[in-house]
Amino acid sequence: MDNSLTPLMSLQSVSKCFHTKTSKIEILNNACLNIYKGETIAVVGSSGIGKSTLLHIIGTLDKPDSGKIYFQKNDLFSYGDEEIASFRNSKIGFVFQFHYLLQGFSALENVMMPGLIAHKKKKIVEKSALNMLERVGLLLRSSHRVEDLSGGEQQRVALARALVMKPEILLADEPTGNLDQKNSKSIHALIDELNKELGMTVIVVTHNNELARMMKKIVTLADGEIIPV
Ligand SMILES: Nc1ncnc2c1ncn2[C@@H]1O[C@H](COP(=O)(O)OP(=O)(O)O)[C@@H](O)[C@H]1O
Ligand SMILES: [Mg+2]
Repeated sequence: MDNSLTPLMSLQSVSKCFHTKTSKIEILNNACLNIYKGETIAVVGSSGIGKSTLLHIIGTLDKPDSGKIYFQKNDLFSYGDEEIASFRNSKIGFVFQFHYLLQGFSALENVMMPGLIAHKKKKIVEKSALNMLERVGLLLRSSHRVEDLSGGEQQRVALARALVMKPEILLADEPTGNLDQKNSKSIHALIDELNKELGMTVIVVTHNNELARMMKKIVTLADGEIIPV
């Protein structure tokens, strides 16, 4: 079989609900999505529809109630917790909507964290972290503590942290939500460069039309299904 036709990831009939005391919110209802290597996908849709939840499920940070998610031909949720964590650390870079940087640590230390967790040599990790901080335009801020940086700068540190291990798949939840137009443009260019340079697969949730249009495919969530726009 031609490998180029096999999706890198495949969501098959994925369903997810949240229960509150009084109601049940259906987020995904037998949703399907094939994600091919090197593909770029924008997820758009109104607030509260379930875009962040979808991204968390693709990134194995949350589990579906039913359905399967394959990475190549492996059923991810048949793995044990440790195997899932190791899959996530080695393959996925995540930029969260609320960036979750480690307070009290410098920008450089935050960006070095994934490499140190993966037991890479400190000197090598430091070099790649500085390189990535330079690419997001923050080299001169590398020794600043993250809480002393502006919202937009913190978002760029979070992006550098997601990209430092050159992940196969970048999942970014409104990565330019806090940025002005100039900074947004440079982040869009960086995502585009890394997609071309590394064949990095990119899935972004975004309200930014310019970023959405840069992606090869745009999908939206409606009635719990993932629908091409
Ligand atoms: N852990 C949770 N428990 C209960 N409800 C949740 C939880 N996470 C999200 N929700 C609800 O699910 C819906 C979708 O949330 P979310 O995925 O964050 O939407 P979006 O990113 O599209 O704005 C919202 O109504 C939200 O309040
Ligand atoms: Mg969201």
